[in-house]
Amino acid sequence: MAMKLTESQTALLKGEKGETLAKVMKTLVMYGETFGAEKMVPITGAQGHLVTSFGLGVMKPVFSLMDGLIREGALSGRKFTADPRPLDPNVPANLLQKLFFKVMYSKQEYYEDQLRKLGLVNDDGFTCTCYMSQVGNIPGKGDILSWAESSAVVYANSVLGARCNRNSGIIELFGNIAGYVPCFGLLTDEGRKAAWIVEIKTSRKPEAQLLGSAIGMKVMEDVPWIRGLDVWLGKTLDKAAADYLKDMGAAAASNGAVGLYHAANLTPEARERGSALIAPVPKTYVIDDAELERVRAGYPCIWKDPYAEPKLCFVGCPHLSLNQLKSWTAALLEALKNACQTRLAIPTVFTAAPAVAGEFRESPDSEALKKAGGLVSSICPLMYMNNPLCGRMPVITNSNKLRTYTSSRYYTDDEILKKITGAVK
Ligand code: F3S
Repeated sequence: MAMKLTESQTALLKGEKGETLAKVMKTLVMYGETFGAEKMVPITGAQGHLVTSFGLGVMKPVFSLMDGLIREGALSGRKFTADPRPLDPNVPANLLQKLFFKVMYSKQEYYEDQLRKLGLVNDDGFTCTCYMSQVGNIPGKGDILSWAESSAVVYANSVLGARCNRNSGIIELFGNIAGYVPCFGLLTDEGRKAAWIVEIKTSRKPEAQLLGSAIGMKVMEDVPWIRGLDVWLGKTLDKAAADYLKDMGAAAASNGAVGLYHAANLTPEARERGSALIAPVPKTYVIDDAELERVRAGYPCIWKDPYAEPKLCFVGCPHLSLNQLKSWTAALLEALKNACQTRLAIPTVFTAAPAVAGEFRESPDSEALKKAGGLVSSICPLMYMNNPLCGRMPVITNSNKLRTYTSSRYYTDDEILKKITGAVK
């Protein structure tokens, strides 16, 4: 092996702690060497996060791999959260769809049992926004992580200043079992430098999901230095700014492959190191109103009938924060009042982490949202949509990630509000 390993890492690789752990370590070393890593570094984040949260019946190799790890005691050294569950019986579905879900996710209970044995933090640990205060998996600045969920990785890197590569599923679990990750890419100072300067020159606050999409599609896996966002978000990384950056980052991570961005005067490393984070001779991308319009106009509508009435709406991919749940509720109650309506025109599911949804349910807003016909769930909308039966449904969303991976149709927050409250068709 070309990689330089410490004594304890070599011992792991040689099987001093068992053959299974040796295989885990060997996989990580091979993974690192593929990307030119010269060493392995210890994970310092308190918790892991797993991207694979669904018990798809066809994932037989994953189940037997997990069984092997559990049998040999090769468990995650740190507790972990996991992506949202694929199922929620409360989310509208017809009989056929419900039957289909049962077959498709036939191993859900079995798989969740495996996750518990491997180190799942608790039964409420299923969310892509594990970094919400109610969930508590919040890495510190500079923490080394082994995560894979793209929206969580980009948030941890950019908004929290942690260090994590865009790993794949299972590899991220292996990192947490071994306690080490290969050091390359976004774990290094060099890999965190911005190859792009993105200039925001819009006449109004850009839609977070649209801006992220534009950035992602332009810079792909590079790191952008975003200039001018503080004009709209201010210079304080408060809850509203963090929510905006969450949604923008998720879009950049899925419409492109962004794992880290720096927002000038706003994100922690940008504030600390300033333009020293910009690589020599960066490329430039200017985003104005016309550019956002151009990006939006390029989104295809792949519904069989583009004029179909939407049957369902998903808001919350990535999962919403408590403030977002509250502000959506306030906005839709106001819009319903203005339209002299009491119920939503389109069944709408607002998704949030179980602990966030739980706190929301304690508030009076929850009853008001329910009365209006809104549903709060902790499902992953993508897992709901990703099958031929739901894929044929005309579903709308304000999520660029959901739009990218499914047949759902994207609308801005304002447009969604008007549609679900019946103000426009
Ligand atoms: Fe989260 Fe599922 Fe969307 S994991 S980011 S709700 S696709």
